[in-house]
Amino acid sequence: MARSWERSRALLERARKSLAGGVSSPFRAQAPVPLHFEDGRGSRLKDADGNWYIDYTLGWGPSILGYRHPAMVEALGRAADSPYTYGAQHEREFLVSEKIQSLVPCAERVLYTSSGTEAVQIAWRLCRAFTGRRLILKFEGHYHGWMDSALISYHPRADQAGPWESPYPVTSSLGQVANVVDNVLVAPWNSIEAVERVFAERGPELAAVVMEPVLCNSGCIFPRPGYLEGVRDIARRHGALLMFDEVITGFRLALGGAQQYYGVTPDISTYGKAVAGGLALSGVAGRADILEMAVGGGVAFGGSFNGNPIVLAGAHAVLEVLSSDGGAPLEQARRIGESIMEGLRAAAARHGLPVLVSGFGAAFAVHFTPRTELAEYRDTLSDDPEMLHRLVIALLEEGVCILPDGRMYVSVVHSADDAAETLAAFDRAFTSFGVS
Ligand SMILES: Cc1ncc(COP(=O)(O)O)c(C=O)c1O
Repeated sequence: MARSWERSRALLERARKSLAGGVSSPFRAQAPVPLHFEDGRGSRLKDADGNWYIDYTLGWGPSILGYRHPAMVEALGRAADSPYTYGAQHEREFLVSEKIQSLVPCAERVLYTSSGTEAVQIAWRLCRAFTGRRLILKFEGHYHGWMDSALISYHPRADQAGPWESPYPVTSSLGQVANVVDNVLVAPWNSIEAVERVFAERGPELAAVVMEPVLCNSGCIFPRPGYLEGVRDIARRHGALLMFDEVITGFRLALGGAQQYYGVTPDISTYGKAVAGGLALSGVAGRADILEMAVGGGVAFGGSFNGNPIVLAGAHAVLEVLSSDGGAPLEQARRIGESIMEGLRAAAARHGLPVLVSGFGAAFAVHFTPRTELAEYRDTLSDDPEMLHRLVIALLEEGVCILPDGRMYVSVVHSADDAAETLAAFDRAFTSFGVS
């Protein structure tokens, strides 16, 4: 029998009367109804109607240890019985920054903020202050948070985006100050020639070139071989900084993120999501001479919740678990994720569906597309959103949660049994499409 999610619907109606839109982020206002959850354990979540799901949303990425991981329960239990904030220094701050320093290649210094958006804000300010330059080069389809200054050319429509070689910078929101586009240049990603061209024209004005090193916000697309190295080299030649936004790849693609995985060290990088396993921690890591500017170096920076003891207790537990046993937990997430990716490709082929699965095991995305390869954002404009939407709903009916854009995150506690159950659910969902 089709699920109706009666209680989620009723709770949404109640929430709507006091909470704007009834949800805490418009990204969550999903069909058929924004689900209310009331519990979770391991890799599974329980909604307010009592349905259990194998969860691949991980709260949009943060819950890398799954739900109620014993190490988190223990660390947060202790933290709950101590002051929640000092607004001053305490031991957990440097325990976590020392750990990050030991894992992340660029991390000569670390600073803390509370959301990825905020981390990008201070990182861009630092890049501009350090170089004395104004412009940031970003790429189409890359997401760096919802601040006015950064929400540019995230997912522009084809009729807004302009020529491929020189995309228009496109704002995404009503109320966003229009002249933010004066401070940002936009290029297609994964083309060294495009970056060369921008630097040839505007090099002396560019403070930084900024990217998701694996393009997770537009379908989990890999950099072409040599691309990251090439951009690293161009930025250096022109006196600009290279920034990786590792809010998704950090502590997930590898312990040291994309920069460790690809062996390309940026000057500065941003973190969020997985670093505290579901608590509100984000931060910046990078060269000491850049980050020291944020504390007494003339760059304004602050935040009541920076270095919050509770979230740092969570981060400490997460980083200890992820780095235990030589990094085996992330390796397990990768292996389970890859087995799902492979099984999914095979299932789609059996059902005659044009499905492309792209990503790296611990994070990947399902695309309905005629394409056999994705290299950048515009390639995803051939995706069929209607088919994806049908799949997301069909999977919910089958007890599997994935994100509305087709993304799937795999935690360190997803098991081979979860993978097998998930593939069976995909098979039934594909069958309901009635193509084969
Ligand atoms: C790459 C990247 N940067 C920045 C952000 C913004 O982080 P937050 O949602 O914590 O503000 C996100 C969020 O999805 C992201 O994926």
